[in-house]
Amino acid sequence: MSHWKVPLADVVATQADIDAVVDAYRSGWWTMGPRTESFEAAFAAYSGAGHAIAVTNGTAALHLICAGTGLGPGDEVVAPSLTFVATVNAIAYTSARPVFADVAGPTEPWLSARSVEAALTPRTKAVMAMSYGGHPGEIEELREFCAGRGLILLEDAAHGAGSRLGGRHLGTFGRAGAFSFFSNKNLGIGEGGMVVTRDGDLAARLRLLRSHGMTALTWDRHRGHASEYDVVELGFNYRIDEARAALAEERLSRLDQENGSRARLDERYRAALADVPRVEPALPPRPDSVLAHHLFTVVLDAAVDRDRVRAALAERGVQTSVHYPPVHRFSTYASPAYDLPVTDLYASRAVTLPMFAHMTEAQQDLVVEALSAATASATAVPAGDNGGMPAWRPMQAEEALRLRPLRVLARPWTERRFVHRDYERVLHELSDSRRFNVVPLREFREASTDRVVVGMRHDVDERLGAALELARLEARHGIRATYFVLHTARYYAKAGWGSAERRPSILGHLRELQDMGHEIGWHNDLVTLQCVHGIEPREYLANELEWLRSNGIDIRGTASHGSYWARRLGYHNNYFFDDFEEVAPGLPNRDIVEVGNRECVLSKGRLAEFGFEYEAYHLGEDHYFSDARFDADGRRWHPDSLDFDAFNPGDKVILLTHPDHWDRSVGWKAPRTVVWAGWRAFTGERSRRPG
Ligand SMILES: Cc1ncc(COP(=O)(O)O)c(C=O)c1O
Repeated sequence: MSHWKVPLADVVATQADIDAVVDAYRSGWWTMGPRTESFEAAFAAYSGAGHAIAVTNGTAALHLICAGTGLGPGDEVVAPSLTFVATVNAIAYTSARPVFADVAGPTEPWLSARSVEAALTPRTKAVMAMSYGGHPGEIEELREFCAGRGLILLEDAAHGAGSRLGGRHLGTFGRAGAFSFFSNKNLGIGEGGMVVTRDGDLAARLRLLRSHGMTALTWDRHRGHASEYDVVELGFNYRIDEARAALAEERLSRLDQENGSRARLDERYRAALADVPRVEPALPPRPDSVLAHHLFTVVLDAAVDRDRVRAALAERGVQTSVHYPPVHRFSTYASPAYDLPVTDLYASRAVTLPMFAHMTEAQQDLVVEALSAATASATAVPAGDNGGMPAWRPMQAEEALRLRPLRVLARPWTERRFVHRDYERVLHELSDSRRFNVVPLREFREASTDRVVVGMRHDVDERLGAALELARLEARHGIRATYFVLHTARYYAKAGWGSAERRPSILGHLRELQDMGHEIGWHNDLVTLQCVHGIEPREYLANELEWLRSNGIDIRGTASHGSYWARRLGYHNNYFFDDFEEVAPGLPNRDIVEVGNRECVLSKGRLAEFGFEYEAYHLGEDHYFSDARFDADGRRWHPDSLDFDAFNPGDKVILLTHPDHWDRSVGWKAPRTVVWAGWRAFTGERSRRPG
């Protein structure tokens, strides 16, 4: 008995259940015997699998299908991270390596065929699908995909007892499937599991492996069918006992009926939650299926504090859960090589609501009512706080790999000229006002062209401190520049998950820059903000600009940020602005960004709407130089290499330098680079290399 008014899952034992168990004990034969055989035959017939092998639990079933299909050292198996850890452990038991792939979408928490493809290597031998919540997900696509590449498809159908797609039971799409009969499962019996396969040879091997690799079982010997046995394989003891087999068969006879009740509850949940803001039911139903509805999960809006919602529900007597903390976040499996943004997104926002066949409508109404009230009152998640879940650090994996530590650590040497003394030499040259008219970008278009017009642009990607230092040097030489501040940078906001909390210190620094005569610009990372961080960019931009301007920061220009994500997902941050028609090379889609299998339809605006007078890439200069560029030898462009005499009066030149690359001296650069690279490698944090 639980103290919950509405527990997450619940079982009731009928008199028939109890009778079946008692009969099994009274029979005097307590382990794998006639009741196990009978249950296996019933399950094989029910699922249409042909062969069913009952075992002691779902994990054993998974281990058997991995071992029985020959997985072993050197093999890789692509699996979801969004699963119970047993799915992955079973692969690891064979010494094969689990490789995680992302799920299909924020409300489609199943293995995506597309991300499986991205995870393949020459060592990939199998794909392990998991029927999350009893949903078929992309099982047909995975089946086709595996068939086309000679890969073994295995199914963790722990949630899927009774689920069919087009009449075919989950667990029977691949070479073999594994079911769990753990207490909270649709066919719960306490502990128990089942392997199904259509392959007779495989079934025979699995039977051997289930019981020590022995060629005859005790029950066979008892019946006089065999008096001797051999041991032909290294097997296991995964036998189920008779009482549980009998209970399982009894419960199997009403599985469809109970799944039908779950289906009605699922439909009722969806109808009731349709008008509840900030709550989106996951696992969209499929018309061509009959589903187990093992779980009912909802995905909360980014602005909702999930912990508070769950606590509020608990207070009302409603038990909830999270399926699942992703496996790639557990110490045993963690690796910086994994980058599973949709898995992390789902894992940090999903809540599992109560679902069991005999849930009453009154209980369900209580859940819905408590959830609506809780989400309405839950305030925005403080930035960076993912409700106790590990933060979503989307760049983690690739950036960690891209760090190329030796090259980075060599930078104090290879970039030793990116120091203040060298910058001052450039400033000294530029401060010759007879030849040069150096201006911040807002004055660039109108600047008098009797001299060489130089627009000084700085994109402040990570190091606002370095920007302040350059700004002071420039001020000393009477030079004014534009500093584009990056709203997704750490110095600007604690940017987390669906929210960005501005740092109070930012205003003081921007005022200091402005007071030196410099211009502050907006470094536009708005598509990233929308598609990667889940923040509505129009509203955000309007609010930020309002705040900055009302605090005396005169922002007139914007410059697109070439973020890692922009390259990775294939967009340009200027796609936010409808003012520009051109398509960036290699980044063709101006309207939709695909994040995993989710489509992010871009919000758009116009420069004038937000009071912008210019975009820094659209100023019509004659010459453009940037220290984000490298020469053929891999050396960063340095402004000192400019031939100032080559310009003619009237030429319009833009110089883009990133304060991130500049230090007071090599003495400062070396320890900073080491600390930076070490910290980056340790945290796996993203690099915000400009670009
Ligand atoms: C998806 C999934 N796989 C595997 C298992 C392992 O099953 P068992 O607990 O019966 O070993 C479970 C359930 O606990 C599960 O939910």
